[in-house]
Amino acid sequence: MSDVDASEVAQDDLGQHIAHYRDVRERIERATLPLATSVDGLTFEVQASLHGLSLRRGGYVVLEHDGGRRFGQITDLTSQAADVQIPGTGGSSASVRIHVAVGHGLLLDRGDPFHEAQARPALPDEVSGWLEGTRRPDRASLVIGELLFAPGVTAELDSGGLNRHTFMCGQSGSGKTYSLGLLLERVLAETTLRIVILDPNSDYVGLGRLREDVDPARAEGYRAVPGDVAVWSNEPGADHLLRLRFPELDSRTQGAVLGLDPIADRDEYAVLTDLLRATERGQPIVTGLDQLAGSSNPSAQQLGSRAVNLGVLDWEIWSPDEPSLLQELKEPTSRCVVVDLGSLETLEEQRTVADAVLGSLWSLRRAREPVLIVIDEAHNICSADPSNRVSTITTERAVQVAAEGRKFGLYLLVSTQRPNKVHENVVSQCDNLLLMRMNSMADVGDLSRLFSFVPPGLMAGAPSFGLGQALVAGKIFPQGGAYVQMGDRVSQEGGADIPTTWARSRTP
Ligand SMILES: Nc1ncnc2c1ncn2[C@@H]1O[C@H](COP(=O)(O)OP(=O)(O)OP(=O)(O)O)[C@@H](O)[C@H]1O
Ligand SMILES: [Mg+2]
Repeated sequence: MSDVDASEVAQDDLGQHIAHYRDVRERIERATLPLATSVDGLTFEVQASLHGLSLRRGGYVVLEHDGGRRFGQITDLTSQAADVQIPGTGGSSASVRIHVAVGHGLLLDRGDPFHEAQARPALPDEVSGWLEGTRRPDRASLVIGELLFAPGVTAELDSGGLNRHTFMCGQSGSGKTYSLGLLLERVLAETTLRIVILDPNSDYVGLGRLREDVDPARAEGYRAVPGDVAVWSNEPGADHLLRLRFPELDSRTQGAVLGLDPIADRDEYAVLTDLLRATERGQPIVTGLDQLAGSSNPSAQQLGSRAVNLGVLDWEIWSPDEPSLLQELKEPTSRCVVVDLGSLETLEEQRTVADAVLGSLWSLRRAREPVLIVIDEAHNICSADPSNRVSTITTERAVQVAAEGRKFGLYLLVSTQRPNKVHENVVSQCDNLLLMRMNSMADVGDLSRLFSFVPPGLMAGAPSFGLGQALVAGKIFPQGGAYVQMGDRVSQEGGADIPTTWARSRTP
């Protein structure tokens, strides 16, 4: 309230003037009706009072006008200010700033343009009725929770949409791992899709075990699943020991493991290639790295010394005896394989196993057996800036799977807290998005650029998400982008947050 000339009114009167203008301002603001206009019949603009605002970004709305009613979703909602001149008492007037809500949205049914339709939040029944009419009855729905602004309406993903790559991101603690576990549970329970999980934090090792507090009816629906899940881990008592055989790796990975560059170390690299070719021809000079050093072949001995010096020989993943993970990938005995990278002692072993898994799945691509390849903490596996040769090769493989894997049935589901640290050629190939809370508007802006099919206004809501809230969009939710509250898991979480009992007050 800027233009009142305070010198002309007594101090006592000033308070009354201000109260008058506040009153008028509030009446103007409250008189802003929730009205929507569409000039193209596809999108709409809406305005509403901020007092008791019931419209929400991401929420569904019904727009009623003379010619009928339309169903839409608000994709953007902000407050807008305007200055209006208001007459006061005694001939004075004041410029008063009023605030109203203005927004934009998408119309989700077909129809004509309209002007000044009355807008109201859609009732849960209206939302579920609309969703029902859009689902494909021939495809399994994956119930992952509820729609955020339609309480009681289940959020259901189209399982068939997983035949595209999926990108999941959110900042640390936003609920990615919990939610991804939930989604995988649903995939296991509702479809027959094979799954291979690269699990760097041992978060999914409990996927085949039911939580103790689970509702018996939901447990029943999951009863058949545990037998489908096999954990390959270095932990004692694991279903399978996480082991590889050196000769099974492809030559690029073998060279990288031994720190050999095909150009700079061409002589040694050539020796390695010869040895492995001989092995392939049935003259097994190398059945394991440990045999290199003890070999009578001097070239093999040299490579063996290299392996000893690099510490590669001490890695626990090498096994001439136990079944190999790569054999399991070639001839699967379990529908879901959890590769417990977190159980391995060194980062190098984790990287080598991740690389071997991606390399093996790629080499088997012509079998055209659909498989969902889940990569948690993807910034470490398909890094935008790989830190060594094995990581570089792994990233190249992931980029290749992202670009060409889909037609062979290799579908990626990558999850990260740092979207900029995942190789852009992986992210840009993803047609599905699961976005959880992201505080950085810069990151949200980058994602908006990469996921241009998602309305930017919906993306901009990500910083205000709570735990377990997400935006889902893409082929897995063909009805547009939806705000979702993830539901409860049935299976055990491997790496839930450590309880903060240490923070209990020590003073009574
Ligand atoms: N929908 C949910 N309901 C109940 N608890 C949840 C939910 N989502 C996450 N949590 C809990 O919140 C904590 C953090 O979740 P989670 O580990 O999934 O986060 P994150 O995004 O994977 O974090 P980080 O990036 O650090 O791995 C965990 O203890 C988890 O059990
Ligand atoms: Mg996590």
